[in-house]
Amino acid sequence: MPPAGQCLLWLGLVLASVCASLESAAPSNSTTGPLNVLLIIVDDLRPSLGCYGDKAIRSPNIDQLASRSLLFQNAFAQQAVCAPSRISFLTGRRPDTTRLYDFNSYWRIHAGNFSTIPQYFKENGYVTMSVGKVFHPGISSNYSDDSPYSWSFPPYHPSSEKYENTKTCRGPDGQLHANLLCPVDVADVPEGTLPDKQSTEQAIRLLEKMKTSASPFFLAVGYHKPHIPFRYPKEFQKLYPLENITLAPDPQVPAGLPPVAYNPWMDIRQREDVQALNLSVPYGPIPVDFQRKIRQSYFASVSYLDTQVGHLLSALDDLQLTNSTIIAFASDHGRRVMDLVELLSLSPTLAGLAGLHVPPRCPVPSFHVQLCREGQNLGKHFQLQDLGEDPHLRGNPRESIAYSQYPRPADYPQWNSDKPSLKDIKVMGYSIRTIDYRYTVWVGFDPREFLANFSDVHAGELYFVDSDPLQDHNMYNDSQGRDLLQSLMP
Ligand SMILES: *[C@@H]1O[C@H](CO)[C@@H](O)[C@H](O)[C@H]1NC(C)=O
Ligand SMILES: *[C@@H]1O[C@H](CO)[C@@H](O)[C@H](O)[C@H]1NC(C)=O
Ligand SMILES: *[C@@H]1O[C@H](CO)[C@@H](O)[C@H](O)[C@H]1NC(C)=O
Ligand SMILES: *[C@@H]1O[C@H](CO)[C@@H](O)[C@H](O)[C@H]1NC(C)=O
Ligand SMILES: *[C@@H]1O[C@H](CO)[C@@H](O)[C@H](O)[C@H]1NC(C)=O
Ligand SMILES: *[C@@H]1O[C@H](CO)[C@@H](O)[C@H](O)[C@H]1NC(C)=O
Repeated sequence: MPPAGQCLLWLGLVLASVCASLESAAPSNSTTGPLNVLLIIVDDLRPSLGCYGDKAIRSPNIDQLASRSLLFQNAFAQQAVCAPSRISFLTGRRPDTTRLYDFNSYWRIHAGNFSTIPQYFKENGYVTMSVGKVFHPGISSNYSDDSPYSWSFPPYHPSSEKYENTKTCRGPDGQLHANLLCPVDVADVPEGTLPDKQSTEQAIRLLEKMKTSASPFFLAVGYHKPHIPFRYPKEFQKLYPLENITLAPDPQVPAGLPPVAYNPWMDIRQREDVQALNLSVPYGPIPVDFQRKIRQSYFASVSYLDTQVGHLLSALDDLQLTNSTIIAFASDHGRRVMDLVELLSLSPTLAGLAGLHVPPRCPVPSFHVQLCREGQNLGKHFQLQDLGEDPHLRGNPRESIAYSQYPRPADYPQWNSDKPSLKDIKVMGYSIRTIDYRYTVWVGFDPREFLANFSDVHAGELYFVDSDPLQDHNMYNDSQGRDLLQSLMP
């Protein structure tokens, strides 16, 4: 969830990209024993990071990781909603295969008995461990984060997580509220800690245990911030004085945006401080001073997250495990633009980097196949890096394409537009992202049969990346756009 100033446009995008950087610590054959894996998953982090060129953000720890990693400038999530995105990249299958577009079904029962990345490592002799938000909780992971299949022992959840959406934010009136903006004095909050701090501590305890283990490990650490509410230690706010916060470069709803593409940010509106603004539904706008405060708190939450990543990576160093560990860092939503990759390629790539057999390509359909990949093994990029060459110069971004999708309950923004339940889905937006453009078609969808009807086109979007990087000018009905679309037809 980006800061609201940009919600108007950025959340309207079907294609949310993802920040993914991978580090192959010791890819040479001289390494003794198999490599460990540390998978860091961050909730709702877009590339508001120094390593992605954002000069306003303080993220020294993630930037340092990125500086010794392969950084994917153009990585895209398959559906920018927590549960569908996570189930997609953890199984390496697209949402149309996991059949999860909402939060309400378990793929092993409703789609196919697909293996997950941690399960595959576990079956290959790894100790697999989950800390914090890795799978989305609830029925989408069978109320168990897919235990016992994915994990060697029960997943850890921070005890203070239960206060995230409660009245623990001190408002200007001195009272406690359940607010969107929630800088806190950590000593004052229930249990005197925050979920991501607890998760870091637990992850470090597990690393200490694994130091002497005979088996390699796969540790997944899922951080909650910067997902809303922005509940973070208040000292991080000082990094971003309000007077220095700029507004989104394009806060208006673009004239050519089809209403079906617009997300009315209902989840923000539920918070007490936002309710008090009496914002009009669906388009707002949000008062400018509140836009600044949202951006300030998003940035502060990113810096808070960054310090947690810093503690975790320092512990890995102190334990002398860095040399033998592949580190992957990814978010489930976000955005940014060289070689286009899909988050669902994380799974075969991690298997390949760790020296495991890379699962074969999936047949179509693949509901009956437990282990296969719909994405690519991105290992070739690491080999190029080992040769000391810039992989971006070697790859051909013109040959790569990323696909994403997003469901809607109606052609116009309504209360459940951002997160429709399966039965309410009437329209599915399918996007193709190339290095030059994003092309989206919104088509009729039957949730009982899981069928998209491509002859029932509700709306279309087409944005040219070079001339319109923020995707504000929909060229779908323009002659330049029609020429491109004609050329794509077989
Ligand atoms: C590692 O080296 C051995 C002996 O030279 C060779 O047989 C093996 O294929 C190599 N493994 C990899 C992953 O390169
Ligand atoms: C699903 O996969 C798991 C793990 O491989 C296996 O234990 C289980 O028996 C499978 N269930 C079905 C119904 O095939
Ligand atoms: C889901 O969890 C329930 C309760 O623990 C268990 O009985 C059931 O077998 C699980 N489903 C699958 C597909 O493993
Ligand atoms: C805020 O902006 C002023 C003026 O550009 C600059 O001098 C100051 O360093 C900035 N403060 C921070 C914390 O970035
Ligand atoms: C919002 O509406 C309430 C009730 O109508 C009113 O008391 C309050 O002043 C309004 N707040 C703003 C910021 O307009
Ligand atoms: C890690 O690699 C560095 C540089 O190659 C080396 O000096 C160090 O001893 C290695 N540490 C371990 C634990 O292998």
